[in-house]
Amino acid sequence: MYNIILFGPPGAGKGTQSEKLIEKFQLIHLSTGDILRNEVKAGTPLGLKAKELMDRGDLVPDDVVIGMIRAKLESCNNAKGFIFDGFPRTANQAIALDELLEDLGTSISMMLSLEVENQELINRLLNRGKESGREDDKNEKIINNRIAEYNDKTMPIIKYYQNQGKHEAIVGVGSVEEIFDRLCVAIQTEINA
Ligand code: AP5
Ligand code: MG
Repeated sequence: MYNIILFGPPGAGKGTQSEKLIEKFQLIHLSTGDILRNEVKAGTPLGLKAKELMDRGDLVPDDVVIGMIRAKLESCNNAKGFIFDGFPRTANQAIALDELLEDLGTSISMMLSLEVENQELINRLLNRGKESGREDDKNEKIINNRIAEYNDKTMPIIKYYQNQGKHEAIVGVGSVEEIFDRLCVAIQTEINA
Protein backbone atom coordinates (compact mmCIF):
# COMPACT_ATOMS: atom_id res chain seq x y z
CA MET A 1 0.00 0.00 0.00
CA TYR A 2 1.03 3.56 -0.62
CA ASN A 3 -0.09 6.02 2.04
CA ILE A 4 0.43 9.76 1.77
CA ILE A 5 -0.25 12.51 4.26
CA LEU A 6 -1.07 15.71 2.38
CA PHE A 7 -0.26 18.29 4.99
CA GLY A 8 -0.54 22.06 5.29
CA PRO A 9 -2.40 24.95 6.88
CA PRO A 10 -6.06 25.81 6.25
CA GLY A 11 -6.44 26.84 2.61
CA ALA A 12 -3.11 25.35 1.51
CA GLY A 13 -4.84 23.32 -1.21
CA LYS A 14 -4.99 19.88 0.44
CA GLY A 15 -8.52 19.13 -0.77
CA THR A 16 -7.94 20.52 -4.27
CA GLN A 17 -4.77 18.51 -4.81
CA SER A 18 -6.10 15.33 -3.14
CA GLU A 19 -8.88 15.13 -5.73
CA LYS A 20 -6.32 15.12 -8.54
CA LEU A 21 -3.86 12.79 -6.83
CA ILE A 22 -6.39 10.06 -6.03
CA GLU A 23 -7.27 9.88 -9.70
CA LYS A 24 -3.68 9.68 -10.90
CA PHE A 25 -2.40 7.23 -8.27
CA GLN A 26 -5.63 5.29 -7.60
CA LEU A 27 -5.73 6.10 -3.91
CA ILE A 28 -8.59 6.65 -1.49
CA HIS A 29 -9.12 10.19 -0.17
CA LEU A 30 -9.71 10.44 3.58
CA SER A 31 -10.48 14.00 4.67
CA THR A 32 -11.54 14.34 8.29
CA GLY A 33 -12.95 17.81 7.50
CA ASP A 34 -15.19 16.36 4.76
CA ILE A 35 -16.30 13.47 6.99
CA LEU A 36 -17.14 15.89 9.81
CA ARG A 37 -19.06 18.24 7.49
CA ASN A 38 -21.09 15.23 6.29
CA GLU A 39 -21.92 14.39 9.91
CA VAL A 40 -23.01 18.00 10.49
CA LYS A 41 -25.18 17.93 7.37
CA ALA A 42 -26.77 14.66 8.41
CA GLY A 43 -27.45 16.07 11.88
CA THR A 44 -25.90 13.11 13.71
CA PRO A 45 -25.07 13.49 17.43
CA LEU A 46 -21.38 13.59 16.49
CA GLY A 47 -22.10 16.29 13.91
CA LEU A 48 -24.07 18.37 16.37
CA LYS A 49 -21.20 18.21 18.84
CA ALA A 50 -18.53 18.98 16.24
CA LYS A 51 -20.34 21.87 14.55
CA GLU A 52 -19.77 24.41 17.31
CA LEU A 53 -16.03 23.71 17.41
CA MET A 54 -15.70 23.72 13.62
CA ASP A 55 -17.61 26.98 13.23
CA ARG A 56 -15.16 28.62 15.64
CA GLY A 57 -12.14 27.10 13.90
CA ASP A 58 -11.18 25.00 16.92
CA LEU A 59 -10.02 21.39 16.58
CA VAL A 60 -12.45 18.57 17.33
CA PRO A 61 -11.27 16.14 20.10
CA ASP A 62 -8.69 13.53 19.08
CA ASP A 63 -10.82 10.51 20.06
CA VAL A 64 -13.61 11.63 17.72
CA VAL A 65 -11.44 11.96 14.61
CA ILE A 66 -9.32 8.89 15.40
CA GLY A 67 -12.51 6.83 15.70
CA MET A 68 -13.71 8.13 12.32
CA ILE A 69 -10.43 7.27 10.61
CA ARG A 70 -10.37 3.82 12.21
CA ALA A 71 -13.84 3.08 10.84
CA LYS A 72 -12.90 4.26 7.34
CA LEU A 73 -9.66 2.25 7.25
CA GLU A 74 -11.45 -0.88 8.37
CA SER A 75 -14.09 -0.51 5.67
CA CYS A 76 -11.58 -0.08 2.83
CA ASN A 77 -9.43 -3.18 3.18
CA ASN A 78 -8.77 -3.68 -0.55
CA ALA A 79 -7.34 -0.21 -1.09
CA LYS A 80 -4.10 0.47 -2.98
CA GLY A 81 -3.43 3.20 -0.47
CA PHE A 82 -4.77 6.36 1.13
CA ILE A 83 -4.31 10.10 1.00
CA PHE A 84 -4.84 11.56 4.45
CA ASP A 85 -6.05 15.18 4.18
CA GLY A 86 -6.45 17.21 7.36
CA PHE A 87 -5.37 14.25 9.49
CA PRO A 88 -3.27 13.82 11.58
CA ARG A 89 -3.48 17.24 13.18
CA THR A 90 -2.02 16.58 16.65
CA ALA A 91 0.77 14.42 18.07
CA ASN A 92 -1.81 11.99 19.50
CA GLN A 93 -3.44 11.61 16.09
CA ALA A 94 -0.05 10.94 14.43
CA ILE A 95 0.76 8.19 16.93
CA ALA A 96 -2.73 6.68 16.61
CA LEU A 97 -2.46 6.66 12.81
CA ASP A 98 0.83 4.75 12.93
CA GLU A 99 -0.80 2.16 15.20
CA LEU A 100 -3.90 1.82 13.01
CA LEU A 101 -1.78 1.35 9.88
CA GLU A 102 0.48 -1.13 11.64
CA ASP A 103 -2.59 -3.25 12.42
CA LEU A 104 -3.28 -3.30 8.68
CA GLY A 105 0.32 -4.32 7.97
CA THR A 106 1.19 -1.00 6.36
CA SER A 107 2.61 2.44 7.21
CA ILE A 108 2.90 6.05 6.05
CA SER A 109 5.03 6.30 2.91
CA MET A 110 5.52 10.05 2.92
CA MET A 111 4.25 13.38 4.23
CA LEU A 112 3.99 16.10 1.60
CA SER A 113 3.65 19.51 3.19
CA LEU A 114 2.17 22.37 1.15
CA GLU A 115 3.82 25.65 2.10
CA VAL A 116 1.76 28.82 1.62
CA GLU A 117 2.15 32.12 3.45
CA ASN A 118 -0.58 33.42 5.76
CA GLN A 119 -1.90 36.32 3.65
CA GLU A 120 -2.44 34.03 0.66
CA LEU A 121 -4.28 31.51 2.90
CA ILE A 122 -6.54 34.26 4.25
CA ASN A 123 -7.27 35.57 0.74
CA ARG A 124 -8.14 32.11 -0.57
CA LEU A 125 -10.45 31.27 2.32
CA LEU A 126 -12.25 34.63 2.40
CA ASN A 127 -12.74 34.29 -1.33
CA ARG A 128 -14.24 30.82 -0.99
CA GLY A 129 -16.33 32.03 1.96
CA LYS A 130 -18.29 34.35 -0.32
CA GLU A 131 -20.02 31.33 -1.83
CA SER A 132 -19.19 28.13 0.06
CA GLY A 133 -21.47 28.70 3.02
CA ARG A 134 -18.70 27.34 5.24
CA GLU A 135 -19.07 29.11 8.58
CA ASP A 136 -15.33 28.85 9.21
CA ASP A 137 -14.53 30.81 6.01
CA LYS A 138 -16.80 33.68 6.93
CA ASN A 139 -14.44 36.12 8.57
CA GLU A 140 -10.79 36.79 9.17
CA LYS A 141 -11.06 36.27 12.92
CA ILE A 142 -12.17 32.64 12.51
CA ILE A 143 -9.62 32.03 9.76
CA ASN A 144 -6.88 33.41 12.00
CA ASN A 145 -8.02 31.06 14.76
CA ARG A 146 -7.75 28.11 12.35
CA ILE A 147 -4.23 29.23 11.43
CA ALA A 148 -3.36 29.63 15.12
CA GLU A 149 -4.63 26.10 15.88
CA TYR A 150 -2.48 24.84 13.01
CA ASN A 151 0.65 26.66 14.23
CA ASP A 152 0.10 25.60 17.81
CA LYS A 153 -1.01 21.95 17.56
CA THR A 154 -0.52 20.74 14.01
CA MET A 155 2.72 22.17 12.63
CA PRO A 156 4.84 20.58 15.39
CA ILE A 157 4.05 17.08 14.07
CA ILE A 158 6.18 17.81 10.99
CA LYS A 159 9.08 16.91 13.26
CA TYR A 160 7.57 13.48 13.96
CA TYR A 161 7.70 12.67 10.25
CA GLN A 162 11.07 14.38 9.71
CA ASN A 163 12.51 12.06 12.34
CA GLN A 164 11.23 9.13 10.27
CA GLY A 165 12.75 10.63 7.07
CA LYS A 166 9.28 10.95 5.53
CA HIS A 167 8.71 14.70 5.31
CA GLU A 168 8.99 16.72 2.11
CA ALA A 169 8.06 20.41 1.71
CA ILE A 170 6.29 21.46 -1.49
CA VAL A 171 5.86 25.06 -2.66
CA GLY A 172 2.09 25.54 -2.44
CA VAL A 173 1.79 28.77 -4.45
CA GLY A 174 1.30 28.95 -8.19
CA SER A 175 -1.38 27.43 -10.38
CA VAL A 176 -3.21 24.28 -9.29
CA GLU A 177 -1.52 22.44 -12.19
CA GLU A 178 1.97 23.64 -11.24
CA ILE A 179 1.53 22.48 -7.67
CA PHE A 180 0.06 19.17 -8.84
CA ASP A 181 3.16 18.61 -11.02
CA ARG A 182 5.44 19.24 -8.02
CA LEU A 183 3.50 16.72 -5.93
CA CYS A 184 3.56 14.13 -8.71
CA VAL A 185 7.33 14.46 -9.13
CA ALA A 186 7.83 13.99 -5.38
CA ILE A 187 5.58 10.91 -5.27
CA GLN A 188 7.00 9.35 -8.43
CA THR A 189 10.57 9.88 -7.20
CA GLU A 190 9.70 8.13 -3.94
CA ILE A 191 7.91 5.26 -5.70
CA ASN A 192 10.91 4.72 -7.99
CA ALA A 193 13.44 4.87 -5.14
P1 AP5 B 1 -10.64 20.95 7.19
O1 AP5 B 1 -11.83 20.68 6.39
O2 AP5 B 1 -9.53 20.01 7.19
O3 AP5 B 1 -10.18 22.41 6.78
P2 AP5 B 1 -8.78 23.15 6.78
O4 AP5 B 1 -7.59 22.30 6.74
O5 AP5 B 1 -8.85 24.14 7.88
O6 AP5 B 1 -8.86 23.97 5.46
P3 AP5 B 1 -9.43 23.61 4.06
O7 AP5 B 1 -9.89 22.25 3.93
O8 AP5 B 1 -10.38 24.71 3.83
O9 AP5 B 1 -8.12 23.86 3.15
P4 AP5 B 1 -7.40 22.90 2.10
O10 AP5 B 1 -5.96 22.87 2.45
O11 AP5 B 1 -8.11 21.62 1.87
O12 AP5 B 1 -7.51 23.80 0.79
P5 AP5 B 1 -8.57 23.71 -0.43
O13 AP5 B 1 -8.06 22.78 -1.46
O14 AP5 B 1 -9.92 23.54 0.11
O15 AP5 B 1 -11.07 21.18 8.73
C1 AP5 B 1 -12.18 21.94 9.08
C2 AP5 B 1 -12.44 21.82 10.58
O16 AP5 B 1 -12.79 20.46 10.89
C3 AP5 B 1 -11.25 22.12 11.50
O17 AP5 B 1 -11.15 23.48 11.77
C4 AP5 B 1 -11.62 21.31 12.73
O18 AP5 B 1 -12.62 21.95 13.47
C5 AP5 B 1 -12.21 20.05 12.12
N1 AP5 B 1 -11.22 18.99 11.85
C6 AP5 B 1 -10.93 18.44 10.63
N2 AP5 B 1 -9.97 17.51 10.73
C7 AP5 B 1 -9.65 17.46 12.05
C8 AP5 B 1 -8.70 16.71 12.78
N3 AP5 B 1 -7.90 15.81 12.18
N4 AP5 B 1 -8.62 16.91 14.11
C9 AP5 B 1 -9.43 17.80 14.74
N5 AP5 B 1 -10.33 18.57 14.11
C10 AP5 B 1 -10.45 18.39 12.77
O19 AP5 B 1 -8.39 25.19 -1.03
C11 AP5 B 1 -8.85 26.32 -0.32
C12 AP5 B 1 -9.33 27.38 -1.33
O20 AP5 B 1 -8.22 27.82 -2.12
C13 AP5 B 1 -10.37 26.83 -2.33
O21 AP5 B 1 -11.30 27.81 -2.60
C14 AP5 B 1 -9.51 26.49 -3.57
O22 AP5 B 1 -10.25 26.57 -4.75
C15 AP5 B 1 -8.44 27.57 -3.50
N6 AP5 B 1 -7.16 27.11 -4.08
C16 AP5 B 1 -6.62 25.87 -4.03
N7 AP5 B 1 -5.42 25.83 -4.66
C17 AP5 B 1 -5.20 27.11 -5.10
C18 AP5 B 1 -4.13 27.71 -5.82
N8 AP5 B 1 -3.07 27.01 -6.21
N9 AP5 B 1 -4.22 29.03 -6.09
C19 AP5 B 1 -5.30 29.76 -5.71
N10 AP5 B 1 -6.36 29.24 -5.03
C20 AP5 B 1 -6.29 27.93 -4.73
MG1 MG C 1 -9.74 20.67 2.88
